[in-house]
Amino acid sequence: MNQISRPNNLDAYWMPYTANKAFKQAPRLLARAEGMHYYTTDDREILDGTAGLWCVNAGHGRREITEAIQKQAAVLDFAPSFQMGHPIAFQAAARLAEDLPAPLERVFWTNSGSESGDTALKIALAYQRARGQAQRVRLIGRERGYHGVGFGGMSVGGIGPNRKQFGALLPYVDHLPHTHNLAENAFTKGQPSWGAHLADALESLVALHGDTIAAVMVEPVAGSTGVLVPPTGYLERLRALCTKHDILLIFDEVITGFGRMGTNFGAERFGVVPDLMTLAKGLTNAAVPMGAVAATGTIFDTIVNNSPAGIELFHGYTYSGHPLAAAAAIATMDLHRAEDLPGRARAIEPYWQDSIHSLRSAPGVIDVRDCGLIAGIELEPRPGKPTERAMAVFQRCFDDGLLVRTTGDIVALSPPLIIERPHVDRIVQTLDTALRHAA
Ligand SMILES: Cc1ncc(COP(=O)(O)O)c(C=O)c1O
Repeated sequence: MNQISRPNNLDAYWMPYTANKAFKQAPRLLARAEGMHYYTTDDREILDGTAGLWCVNAGHGRREITEAIQKQAAVLDFAPSFQMGHPIAFQAAARLAEDLPAPLERVFWTNSGSESGDTALKIALAYQRARGQAQRVRLIGRERGYHGVGFGGMSVGGIGPNRKQFGALLPYVDHLPHTHNLAENAFTKGQPSWGAHLADALESLVALHGDTIAAVMVEPVAGSTGVLVPPTGYLERLRALCTKHDILLIFDEVITGFGRMGTNFGAERFGVVPDLMTLAKGLTNAAVPMGAVAATGTIFDTIVNNSPAGIELFHGYTYSGHPLAAAAAIATMDLHRAEDLPGRARAIEPYWQDSIHSLRSAPGVIDVRDCGLIAGIELEPRPGKPTERAMAVFQRCFDDGLLVRTTGDIVALSPPLIIERPHVDRIVQTLDTALRHAA
């Protein structure tokens, strides 16, 4: 493989969620990828412990996906989706609907998790209005939730640093407490037993806001704020309370979808089905950007049947159902089915879990948690220097050929679902060294 050269000028690109000044002084550049690995511009092999950004679930460079994209590009590069259609967008929706848990059956295409988040919130508001509940304008998120960077997702999300630069945000938003509690649940394998009662905070919000709540939005497993696993019974309770109070439940499955939980969707693993589900990332194996919102037939019918003739939902993106993305989605979902990637994730989960939890005795580790093929390792922050220890671990891992992700002082792992035991061993050994180095 030819080495891909490093660009001479790094100035023009304003990098997202990056310490631009520091990065450009010491760049980490990934040039190509295959299977479980990235390769840097100086051709160092980097084991991908994060499936890119929680998205390359089937592993890198999958021929079936690449060929589907190439073939589609040669047939139809783009077609408008407003008052027009093209076959593959319908085929991809029908294919996704085959895998969705009932009663989710309708698919609205977006281009990212952020767009999916804002789309789901808008659909929830439009649904309430269409069924004669226009007073239901309030949106409930959860502390430490991440639903992307649009104004809806950012407002309903519960991450301080993501909000503080941007003023007043959306009105009529409130939050449930998060479920993370080290005193009760540190070093739990899988779902913790303490914390289901935290869902009851929704009762207090209903007492406060009456019948003005349109929807509650949560991630089944919160990823971006450091892998917060739902306590046993928590999601069930939230579902029951939403049903009791006639509130829509939205699951943000942008990272828990497409096999990561050992099932197609987190909804199946936890046995709790929402009214709306947001998707992205693993949908196309990240080969082409694409997101989706899945809705129940009732939500679709209510909005469509209660609208006057003409456009029923004033929402959509130029690239909704883009032909290349639709081709990538079908190929990806077919690959998941042919190789039973959720089953593969399920099969390796016990080994993954035991291996990751062996790091509990490494220096600075104050919690290890996991669910499906996700793990979080929480570190004791260095006194007065939050995030510094985790960044040192991240850099040392990268220098030693492993990509991990950090959020605050938490190391998050979410490898491609094709991971095998020797990869797991390497992740643990490299992390162990890095943790000792950062002690
Ligand atoms: C749960 C969740 N929702 C939404 C998003 C936003 O997705 P995107 O970056 O594709 O807009 C992410 C991204 O990490 C996510 O983890």
